[in-house]
Amino acid sequence: MDEFTARLRTALLERYGDPAAREPAAGPAPAYEVRTLTGGPLDALAARHGLVAMRVAEARDLTAPGHPRRKRFLRVALPEGTGYRTADHLTVLPANAPGLVTRVAAALGVDLDEVLDIRPGRPRRDALAVDRPLTARQLLTHHVELQERPGAAQLAVLSAANPCPPERAALAAFPEDDPRTLVEVLEAFPALRGALDWPRLLELLTPLRPRHYSISSSPAVDPRHADLMVSLLEAPARSGDGVYRGTGSGHLADLAPGDTVYARVQPCRAAFRVDDRTPVVMVAAGTGLAPFRGAVADRGAALAAGGRLRPALCYFGCDAPDADFLHADELRAAEDAGAVALRPVFSAAPENGMSFVQHRIAAEADEVWGLLADGARVYVCGDGSRMAPGVRDAFRTLYRERTPGADDEGARAWLDELVADGRYVEDVYAAG
Ligand SMILES: Cc1cc2nc3c(=O)[nH]c(=O)nc-3n(C[C@H](O)[C@H](O)[C@H](O)COP(=O)(O)OP(=O)(O)OC[C@H]3O[C@@H](n4cnc5c(N)ncnc54)[C@H](O)[C@@H]3O)c2cc1C
Ligand SMILES: NC(=O)c1ccc[n+]([C@@H]2O[C@H](COP(=O)([O-])OP(=O)(O)OC[C@H]3O[C@@H](n4cnc5c(N)ncnc54)[C@H](OP(=O)(O)O)[C@@H]3O)[C@@H](O)[C@H]2O)c1
Repeated sequence: MDEFTARLRTALLERYGDPAAREPAAGPAPAYEVRTLTGGPLDALAARHGLVAMRVAEARDLTAPGHPRRKRFLRVALPEGTGYRTADHLTVLPANAPGLVTRVAAALGVDLDEVLDIRPGRPRRDALAVDRPLTARQLLTHHVELQERPGAAQLAVLSAANPCPPERAALAAFPEDDPRTLVEVLEAFPALRGALDWPRLLELLTPLRPRHYSISSSPAVDPRHADLMVSLLEAPARSGDGVYRGTGSGHLADLAPGDTVYARVQPCRAAFRVDDRTPVVMVAAGTGLAPFRGAVADRGAALAAGGRLRPALCYFGCDAPDADFLHADELRAAEDAGAVALRPVFSAAPENGMSFVQHRIAAEADEVWGLLADGARVYVCGDGSRMAPGVRDAFRTLYRERTPGADDEGARAWLDELVADGRYVEDVYAAG
């Protein structure tokens, strides 16, 4: 029987060939699978945040040479079809500085030229926006935060990955209030070098956040460009070791004309648009002046077109007249034209005991009170942690001192009502 089967098989194979050797009916399988990648390497990232490439048209210091708290002027050309309104924000994608990237790579034991093909293992809302292989340098430059203070979850990952028992224990007991940033922690625990593979590193690193900047120009003057005032965050590091340079402000401060920045226009709250139908009191310190430079330019354009304006005061706090009075010549010319009444205050050169904007508001309380009685709207922009509370306090005091029988409670209720009515509007940022 076996012999018969074997002979039959041989005869069939000779006559019809080996069916297992035949090509599949559907034709040959392609030898290659090809993904076509269009656009540039940062397009997926830009698309994630709704940003587009914009060209830097101008970049220069707004502060005097040598002034320790540098503020930069940046003029960005808006692409065709992108417009803005006065006081809108520009949302910008930062990039980590090359020196910082090198430090992190050295601490992690990472080869910056290594090419990574990253594919998400599971869907994640904050997954990295990467659509093609990229070098470790590109990843660390454009995609992840390197200077945040590590949180409990990140410290747990670092502790678990650390092969050195004393370092592991120190990371497990890391104090919550330790001021060191991620790069500083990586450097402080050298056993972490080479201890984390890429999947664990990517779990550890948080995606780079876009930063927001108030637009300081007016489309009435130039609708094709948006100007910024950028306060460069550069100060002795809280760790006590070296200098801390802000990621976003550092990136913007390093840009030169012709460079590209990824950005989008983000409308401000409707209530923050300076109303030209009522008197206005604008209050700012430092780069908080940005939206008011635009508002003053709007008023200048309205005047030039023959319009009549209600009164506008602009309280502006800075260090010294010859150091950081931002756009001083332009603003003084606008004042001369009748577009605004400037009320500068200099913290390094106090006049009549006034070093901050709230002091000058208090000193000129009768005038401000008169404008409020006339329906004035108050706009406050800039630092939300010290200036904005100080200004609120000045307004409550102003009410209390001019309203018979009013107490703190009444003053608080009065200001709350102004806020609720959209007559006292803040666009402030508490930096932490
Ligand atoms: C609506 C809006 C409008 C804004 N408009 C403007 C504007 O017009 N102009 C402007 O300049 N800014 C503006 N900002 C602030 C701006 O968005 C950024 O927050 C600012 O530039 C700092 O960002 P950064 O990336 O440079 O700093 P980051 O790198 O993000 O650093 C900030 C972090 O570092 C910490 N830190 C601060 N100092 C130190 C230190 N010495 N050592 C260690 N850590 C430190 C802070 O606590 C904070 O957590 C605005 C913010 C908002 C929300
Ligand atoms: N739309 C927004 O939310 C928006 C827009 C622009 C800017 N910002 C933010 O606003 C802040 C402005 O910072 P900056 O670097 O441009 O300004 P800055 O140079 O730090 O400060 C400007 C002036 O404010 C003074 N000041 C300090 N403490 C004050 C207080 N308690 N009350 C009133 N004034 C005080 C400073 O005096 P001293 O010299 O004594 O410190 C200085 O003269 C930044 O955090 C920036 O990110 C937010």
